[in-house]
Amino acid sequence: ARTEAIAQIDAAADLSALEAIRVALLGKQGSISALMKTLGAMAPEERQARAPAIQALRTGASDAIAARKAALEGAALEAQLAAEALDLTLPAPEAPRGSVHPVSQVMDELAEIFADLGFAVATGPEIEDDWYNFTALNMPESHPARAMHDTFYFPDTAPKGGRMLLRTHTSPVQVRTMLDAVKDHPGGAPLRIIAPGRVYRSDSDATHTPMFHQIEGLVIDRDIHLGHLKWTLETFLKAFFERDDIVLRLRPSYFPFTEPSVEVDVGFALVNGKRVLGGSGDAAGHGWMELLGSGMVNRRVLEASGLDPDEWQGFAFGVGVDRLAMLKYGMDDLRAFFDGDVRWLGHYGFSA
Ligand code: PHE
Repeated sequence: ARTEAIAQIDAAADLSALEAIRVALLGKQGSISALMKTLGAMAPEERQARAPAIQALRTGASDAIAARKAALEGAALEAQLAAEALDLTLPAPEAPRGSVHPVSQVMDELAEIFADLGFAVATGPEIEDDWYNFTALNMPESHPARAMHDTFYFPDTAPKGGRMLLRTHTSPVQVRTMLDAVKDHPGGAPLRIIAPGRVYRSDSDATHTPMFHQIEGLVIDRDIHLGHLKWTLETFLKAFFERDDIVLRLRPSYFPFTEPSVEVDVGFALVNGKRVLGGSGDAAGHGWMELLGSGMVNRRVLEASGLDPDEWQGFAFGVGVDRLAMLKYGMDDLRAFFDGDVRWLGHYGFSA
């Protein structure tokens, strides 16, 4: 009976089968319990003779049940661990990574280059007053240059007379910076700033978007002349394009807020139909590309900004950031900058 019971216990396939066997053997109505009860009705000699075998059967069964239970529970735990195990050798799923937009990247690069030259970063509002955007920059109400700016005007609700508009260039930051400086300390100069930011013009095609980015530069000091302007532009463009052979050409031009005004061209070579900056634009197979507007700050602008033009001179320039980014990274459609298509960014190495 004992070996039979133990064989039955060891064959229990799972915990519930084992529990059924335990009840059948050792439960109140169980067969071993029934045997135990027969001991009570026996004569003492008989009981003495039979009790050890029945006790041994009961102990043997309950030990075997405990052992089997431990074995089944161990196996269940093993199975659960195996089912929940993580395979750390599996390749991780591809997680898309963000990146800095080329325009922001270029603005950061320029801020760094100009910081090395001692320029601080200045800012101004994108919703601007007519006076700062035009009048103070020597473009009074009827000035024809205003028409060239394709200005987004706000409905005529301005509190202090000046109409509000979306700034058409970063040049109003020149005026704001000079006025602030004059307020902060008498004289208001010297000054060396760049002003990066968004500008707006009602214009849209492959090379124009209604919003684009400019960086303004302004240096005010004593005895500043065009040579300082040319050196500064050459130095920054060589650093930005990482080429020592950048050659500039200064052409006479006109801006109301600079006098004299110069348009700055940069020499390029045609390599497999692509423009590669570097070298004189006059060399064979080369050409000139218009890059930025600049000039000596018009004394009327200095006066409007509270500076004495007989004491202070300066130069200013304004350059399209998007344009610089396209040239540096070989992009050819300006509009793609603002589509937010990560595949396009990825194509130029701007996302993983
Ligand atoms: N503000 C001019 C433009 O947007 C550029 C410029 C800036 C020209 C400073 C001269 C000096 O076209």
